[in-house]
Amino acid sequence: MIGKLNHVAIAVPDLEAATRLYRDTLGGTVSAPVPQPAHGVTVVFVTLPNTKIELLHPLGESSPIRGFLDKNPTGGVHHVCFEVEDILAARDQMKATGARVLGDGQPKIGAHDKPVLFLHPKDFLGTLVELEQA
Ligand code: CO
Repeated sequence: MIGKLNHVAIAVPDLEAATRLYRDTLGGTVSAPVPQPAHGVTVVFVTLPNTKIELLHPLGESSPIRGFLDKNPTGGVHHVCFEVEDILAARDQMKATGARVLGDGQPKIGAHDKPVLFLHPKDFLGTLVELEQA
């Protein structure tokens, strides 16, 4: 069911330092910071030949990644995002296996203006999984 790895999201406590690391140390192609107030994050996109890295920094007091950074103050992998062809079919397949879909189970419009769902990390080897309809 899952297709391409769309992105790996890394929560970072210092967006400028993280951008320098990916641009200057690793030689990656990085974007300018993109504030996404609807998602409570500012994102720097690192474009790789086959996928993207998204450096996430909290935006606003109720940012959904603030708790993660409290537990992981130096930063860490926050989630991985796989593409699926049909988000509702993917959701139903996940539910049929007993995997927990976060929230109310309705796809939300994600950071790329496409429908997304998140799967419970305890059901996926400790990793928060995002599914995005390609
Ligand atoms: Co994501």
